[in-house]
Amino acid sequence: PKRITKVCCVGAGYVGGPTSAVMAIKNPQIQVTVVDYDAKRIAAWQSDNLPIFEPGLLGVVKPARDGIPNNRAPNLFFSTDVDRCIAEAELILLSVNTPTKMLGQGAGHASELCYLESAVRKIGEVAESSKIIVEKSTVPCRAAETLRDVLRATGKPGVDFEILSNPEFLAEGTAIQNLLEPDRVLIGSLNTPQGLEAARALAAIYTSWVDAERIITINLYSSELAKLAANALLAQRISSINALSAMCEAVGADIDEVSFAVGLDKRIGSRMLKASVGFGGSCFRKDILSLAYIAESLHLFEVAEYWRSVININEYQKDRFTRRIVRCLFNSLSNKSLAILGFAYKKNTGDTRETAAITVINNLLAEGANVRVYDPQVKESQIRRDLEGSSASPHLVRDKLTVWSSTYEACAGADAVVILTEWDEFSNKSAAAAAAGDHVQDARNGARTEEEAANGPMSWKRVSQIMRKPMYVFDGRNVVDPAPLEALGFRVESVGKSRSGS
Ligand code: NAI
Repeated sequence: PKRITKVCCVGAGYVGGPTSAVMAIKNPQIQVTVVDYDAKRIAAWQSDNLPIFEPGLLGVVKPARDGIPNNRAPNLFFSTDVDRCIAEAELILLSVNTPTKMLGQGAGHASELCYLESAVRKIGEVAESSKIIVEKSTVPCRAAETLRDVLRATGKPGVDFEILSNPEFLAEGTAIQNLLEPDRVLIGSLNTPQGLEAARALAAIYTSWVDAERIITINLYSSELAKLAANALLAQRISSINALSAMCEAVGADIDEVSFAVGLDKRIGSRMLKASVGFGGSCFRKDILSLAYIAESLHLFEVAEYWRSVININEYQKDRFTRRIVRCLFNSLSNKSLAILGFAYKKNTGDTRETAAITVINNLLAEGANVRVYDPQVKESQIRRDLEGSSASPHLVRDKLTVWSSTYEACAGADAVVILTEWDEFSNKSAAAAAAGDHVQDARNGARTEEEAANGPMSWKRVSQIMRKPMYVFDGRNVVDPAPLEALGFRVESVGKSRSGS
């Protein structure tokens, strides 16, 4: 296959940054440049203060080299010079955002492809030589056809473009591990000699670290749809288990026991069956909305409705959790303080997009509660932006919400602790049990940063001494073992469990 020596990745976000860094470290002979118009984001990638938090990320962006730790990878660059980097590259990864469309037809449902389109227009405008263009962003099926159309109209004569689909399956919080050891790499191409040749060129880059049998080459549109399908199925498992959690609470069963029991069936498997306050993250909701919208535009209304029900259950779960808090706290949150532990949409990330915390906290504020938030990775400015931007009454966020830099500060004087993110430090389960989870070994010889080390497990005993009585714990992630907390005087409410004794 054609040997690629220069790769340009458009979009320096959660996907573009980590993906390019791993590609670069595994292919020293290839120059990988990540470009973005967001100058602040590029500057952050160039600094020691990376724009996203991801375990092991610093270790691939700045690997130890020649015996010197924290050296910059010599073949990985970040730049705002989009035109030049596109013009120089032989292969271009498109990792721009594809959020839910906010305006016009399909608003609130369809994918917004304007960022992708503008990146492709730029390629058409500046390319002087033929390029392989790779959709890494998650796109509606047949998006490649749209891109090809744009390139046909904007590209220079004699310059050829081949479009591939290579969706990214990394999960935030375990991105580096997922990228280093992917379950599979999917490459979709047209079934033409040029398409297959381009697919081989991309596959050759992955072969540096991924076994050939895990690199799957399929039809372009199957590949596009497979990404939406994967996210829909993952979210569907969470909504299924969350729907069952509501039944468990009503009949006195325990959702963790039910999950464990069904997960032993090899056809079902144990992963993604953890009940919670509801899923978040930038992808599940938008990708299911996109899938349902596509189904609808194909007149497959029952199919669209089926997938939308996954989102409906998720909204229901968040509301149900808030209603339970209100009910337990004697149907009034006025003059009560609630300590919120965790704001990120899951542990080991600072990402707050679509986090259940936004819905739950806005609901609690609307009930008149004072809300005291602590998250080990999310900054106060981000929390305020997320809440003020989504609240029907932003003044409540300004007047009634405080953000703290430790669990103990957040819990001081609180009536209840509400756990919304499964950060290890909130768990009272044994360290071994916590470590058996999907914790990622840091690429820097397993060393933990000072910040990580400081976030040891919290002392629930100390918390019990500083709260108002009666003290409640609402565990939206089922990370605490209720018995020891009940011994300290807490009333513990977990998802999918009725309180012991009741
Ligand atoms: P992001 O919002 O973190 O990053 C996208 C970046 O693209 C932004 O920095 C933006 O400034 C830049 N950008 C947009 N248009 C541009 C243009 N024309 N030229 C240069 N830069 C441009 O988004 P994220 O989370 O990295 O997602 C990217 C894509 O990957 C989305 O389609 C998403 O669905 C998909 N994806 C995301 C995953 C995740 O865990 N975040 C996992 C798998 C796929």
